[in-house]
Amino acid sequence: MTLFLAKIRQEVYEKQEQIRKRKKTKSRSDRKIWGYVFDSATKETLFELQQKQQLESLESIISTGKEAYVFVGKGPGGAPVAVKVYKIETSSFNTMSKYIVGDPRFEKVKKDKRAIVYAWAKKEFRNLERASKSGVKVPLPIAQKNNVLIMELIGKKDEPALPMINTRLNDPKKVYEKVLEYIARLFYGSDLIHADLSEYNILINKKEPILIDMGQSVLSSHPMAQEFLDRDILHITNFFKGLGLNISIEDTRKSIRAWKERL
Ligand SMILES: Nc1ncnc2c1ncn2[C@@H]1O[C@H](COP(=O)(O)OP(=O)(O)OP(=O)(O)O)[C@@H](O)[C@H]1O
Ligand SMILES: [Mg+2]
Repeated sequence: MTLFLAKIRQEVYEKQEQIRKRKKTKSRSDRKIWGYVFDSATKETLFELQQKQQLESLESIISTGKEAYVFVGKGPGGAPVAVKVYKIETSSFNTMSKYIVGDPRFEKVKKDKRAIVYAWAKKEFRNLERASKSGVKVPLPIAQKNNVLIMELIGKKDEPALPMINTRLNDPKKVYEKVLEYIARLFYGSDLIHADLSEYNILINKKEPILIDMGQSVLSSHPMAQEFLDRDILHITNFFKGLGLNISIEDTRKSIRAWKERL
């Protein structure tokens, strides 16, 4: 599926034209072509990103989740990028608020749905930046506007890498240790807890783990930080146990703690 931004632009123009003519449009009709994919504010955002040359086109869809769509796109200079478009309407507002409230970086965010989703996308951008600075492999963030986040596409050329759940690991121990190193680097190096770490949010590229999906990541000062960290540790331990590693939660904790002195 190729989604040309020119088409989106045309729709935005048409919509503006309709508003000018004071023709009332039913929300249904404006959802006709792109509606099942994008609301009009999102189309405008995509168009603005295109004008700023941060996005050329959306090429194919990788994932349609509950919170977001992820596309393979062409970014600055035509290079392949991943484009994550957070949904406004179906976003789980209450869950999101839980992660935003308590983060001093987002204290002033207005409490309506759209503002929370925009803050969420910004939070993911910043978390990816922060994680990358502390030596954790994550997609490098390229641009963010409103509910759209453009980042490095992890994979081979324009072929996205698969989540760990869908791959076969030749050396699970090695990957496990790398993931623990990343949890430690996040925690000791940049005060961050991923908070949704699992085999679904780790991509495997050239046998190496890459952490993704950091919208919900929180600072270690967050009131629920310990709970989130414990949950991440539990998920990772269970996954690798399932692959045959003889490890306990305590082993995982110990290995993470051991990184404290090394960082
Ligand atoms: N930078 C990227 N490079 C390649 N693939 C990506 C990238 N970011 C995300 N993906 C793909 O898109 C999928 C969904 O991304 P992500 O986990 O960030 O969204 P999500 O918030 O989990 O969406 P939902 O939970 O609603 O399904 C990932 O499992 C992965 O397959
Ligand atoms: Mg995910």
